[in-house]
Amino acid sequence: MPTTLVIFGASVDLTSRKLIPALYSLFAKGRLPKGTRIVGVARTKFTNEAWRDELATTTKKFADKEFEAAKWQAFAANVFYHPGDIDKLADFQALAKTLDGLEGNQPTTRLYYLATAPGLYAMAIANLGEAGLADESRGVRRIVVEKPFGTDLKSAQELNKATHKVFAEKQVYRIDHYLGKETVQNILVFRFANSIFEPLWNRRYIDHVQITVAEEVDVGRRAGYYDHSGVLRDMFQNHLLQLAMIIAMEAPTRYSSEFVRDEKLKVLRAIKPMSGADFAQNTIRGQYEGYREAEGVDVDSQTATFAVLKLHIDNWRWQGVPFYLRSGKAMSCRTSQIVIQFRPPPIMMFNESSRTQHEPNKLIIQIQPDEGIQLHFQTKVPDAGMTLSTADLDFRFAREFTGNMPDAYQRLLLDALNGDASLFSRSDEVETAWGIIDPIHAAWQSPAAPPLESYPKGQWGPASSDKWMWAQGRQWFDVCPVLH
Ligand code: BG6
Repeated sequence: MPTTLVIFGASVDLTSRKLIPALYSLFAKGRLPKGTRIVGVARTKFTNEAWRDELATTTKKFADKEFEAAKWQAFAANVFYHPGDIDKLADFQALAKTLDGLEGNQPTTRLYYLATAPGLYAMAIANLGEAGLADESRGVRRIVVEKPFGTDLKSAQELNKATHKVFAEKQVYRIDHYLGKETVQNILVFRFANSIFEPLWNRRYIDHVQITVAEEVDVGRRAGYYDHSGVLRDMFQNHLLQLAMIIAMEAPTRYSSEFVRDEKLKVLRAIKPMSGADFAQNTIRGQYEGYREAEGVDVDSQTATFAVLKLHIDNWRWQGVPFYLRSGKAMSCRTSQIVIQFRPPPIMMFNESSRTQHEPNKLIIQIQPDEGIQLHFQTKVPDAGMTLSTADLDFRFAREFTGNMPDAYQRLLLDALNGDASLFSRSDEVETAWGIIDPIHAAWQSPAAPPLESYPKGQWGPASSDKWMWAQGRQWFDVCPVLH
């Protein structure tokens, strides 16, 4: 069955920077299902041709796959534009006619992609329903909702409720683009397509887990949004918790969307809620120097641009193994990495006082950039008595495979077009994640908050973060990837 992808928010940055380039790259690789049409909707009065021209320029700049004029022409012939206002039902009714016309009234799968400002999601969904656009009598209807899905538990519940009035849960695809990253999916393969790691993947052998998503950039032009959001809502509720779920989940019986998401949800449910003194003891918040001078930021802003959460997953596998989640803007470098630190040997029979320090085994999953996996282990330095040194087994995608890492949106768009929701967040998952973040956010506005520490740009967050880790007998793995 042919497919029509309708993008609401045709003129937003995401559409030109990510969605269209991803669709074009899929088309160029011959992966986009045959006969897929793309219809952009926004308020601007564009013609099909004017929109195509604009997209040609932006896609040239942003597409992974080298831009080829002939391929673009073939792709663009299936790209259309329909001017419309999210809050006008009449515009949705007119859109219904346009879509029927394009599809020649033939059975067609439709995917509605909400890339608009998040405040418009509920309205767009209601109008899709009112205009009969969710009706499935002539093909499957699906809706993709961009992040953020709500700004707290209450708003997420309201949005889920509004969504479910029009679409059944199986029709809803909530985006977390981290799940579309190849290296994040590779964690599933690494854990569940190999048998040698699983026996070690638990409290008996693992001392702690560090999940770091560091960004070198500051808030830039997004300050207006960011100052109301902050790092907890912008990064932890979604990306960081998703990574934690994938590291901590049990093996699903099958790779199917419900089985995978059931197991992920169990992890969230097992996270021990914080209370009382926990907020000051187990969280750190920071703000980079100069943040308050950015345009759109309150001069007294208390918004955190850096945070650490120490979470406990209270189940048989993970009891007593802290998960340290850390993310921030204006940090030393761009790196997303997961460190699984193993316990030291029960007895160290080699001379501890030798100059080299014995490092415990570490498994480093480098999500981006310089994607790969490294295993650090101790080795004997030849011809030097019993001197030890850390060596590593080093796997890098760039060395093993040719071609670029595809952008996360390619995988996510393809899965949504094909009806595979495994890499999308389910309603209960999103709500449970907000249920973890909300109390921390609330505590940070109260006397229970840890101090808001400032840090110079280009650091691994405030100095107190290192001291806090040291006090627990641990150390951050602060290593910037080497770019080739
Ligand atoms: C987005 C956040 O979800 O993720 C941004 O809103 C952040 O603030 C971005 O910069 C990071 O994504 P990536 O793929 O560049 O790591």
